[in-house]
Amino acid sequence: MRLTAAFVLTVTFLASPAAFADPEGQGEGLFQARCNMCHGTGMGGAPLMEKLSTLSADAIVEKLTTGTMAPMAAGLSDSDKKEIAVFIGKKS
Ligand code: HEC
Repeated sequence: MRLTAAFVLTVTFLASPAAFADPEGQGEGLFQARCNMCHGTGMGGAPLMEKLSTLSADAIVEKLTTGTMAPMAAGLSDSDKKEIAVFIGKKS
């Protein structure tokens, strides 16, 4: 029975909306929530996805950590940033 409860919890966790949107990680959901309002529309001169996807994952993580996008990424963990970078890279 204990095992069944653990299984149900795991399935519930995996079925959360962000995981559903991108089974390999949270990157897509995070991008939609935190970045798309600018990078999906070009608002304020933000480069669009086709430009972002030409950057390396490392360059994106650096931009989110010490660059001009650090305020936009406030509150995200290093692994969140990495997942966003991987999601952007998949769009190239
Ligand atoms: C409030 C609008 C806004 C939000 C939200 C935002 N950005 Fe940006 N972003 C910009 C603008 C404007 C630029 C261009 C100026 C610059 O590079 O600082 C930019 C530049 C960048 C660049 C550099 C592009 C290049 O060619 O060097 C990256 C990478 C980036 N954003 C990633 C992100 C990610 C990932 C998120 C979500 C965590 C995000 N941004 C959220 C407006 C935004």
